[in-house]
Amino acid sequence: MSELSVPHLLGIKYINEADIQLIFETADHFKEIINRPIKKVPSLRDITIANLFFENSTRTRLSFELAEKRLSADVVNFSAAQSSVKKGETLIDTVNNILSMKVDMVVMRHPNPGAGVFLSKNVKASIVNAGDGAHEHPTQALLDSYSIRERLGDVAGKNVVIVGDILHSRVALSNIFALKLQGANVKVCGPKTLIPKYITSLGVEVETNLQKAIEWCDVANMLRIQNERLDISYFPSTREYVQQYGLTKPMLDRLDKEIVIMHPGPINRGVEITSDVADSEQAIILDQVENGVAVRMAVIYLLASKIK
Ligand code: CP
Repeated sequence: MSELSVPHLLGIKYINEADIQLIFETADHFKEIINRPIKKVPSLRDITIANLFFENSTRTRLSFELAEKRLSADVVNFSAAQSSVKKGETLIDTVNNILSMKVDMVVMRHPNPGAGVFLSKNVKASIVNAGDGAHEHPTQALLDSYSIRERLGDVAGKNVVIVGDILHSRVALSNIFALKLQGANVKVCGPKTLIPKYITSLGVEVETNLQKAIEWCDVANMLRIQNERLDISYFPSTREYVQQYGLTKPMLDRLDKEIVIMHPGPINRGVEITSDVADSEQAIILDQVENGVAVRMAVIYLLASKIK
């Protein structure tokens, strides 16, 4: 039986194309199960998972918890705001205390880039990165590619543009790694101040004109401005950002084709995307959320099979 090449999921940077295809094939199986009247399988009855969230989340936290429960794992949830981290306890002490309660796997979101890698080197558990600062968000990129594959049949050869705040986006970086591994063509689009200079070294092209970008693409993945990570002003005003980089229905109507619209959420309606675009048939935003549960079930199941 096939298995993942890694004991942790720390980033797309650390996995390969075969890992992605194995996760997708496993997710296909779980997607069928979660659409049954009884959405649960007993696969991980002997596994205990701790979800550690040091940063806010709606989709990722609930999606992981549902994925774990649908695999029949025991689940404990930890939110930094209500924990002894507030009393000065270190990350390693916190996690080692949780692991001593016989926990097998840790799903962690943390504001510091590299927090998952650091943890994997210092504790004895399988670690899943649920977003580490502006670094990586691997399960988001996997569910995004899975959703493209579901809508368009394949990811290879597709033209995908990622629009918005590329500089501060873990979703952008993980998507770039995942899409390139699968043979997609990738462009990023946004104000030059929000596009890191190293981006072309990842095999990605830069387009600063949104209309040209959507004329080129099959898929547009719209990102929000990460206001919580902006230390300075990167564009004159939100109104000017909307004028240049907000996706509207008239822009889509000017195209001679129908492109797929994606967004990882949370959406800022009327900023990076208008409501009529977000709620249109072209948008697969809620499909992405639905697929997130199946993809995370696949990731957890495959990692758990390596620790059993
Ligand atoms: N897409 C995403 O990571 O959303 P949350 O921050 O709500 O988890």
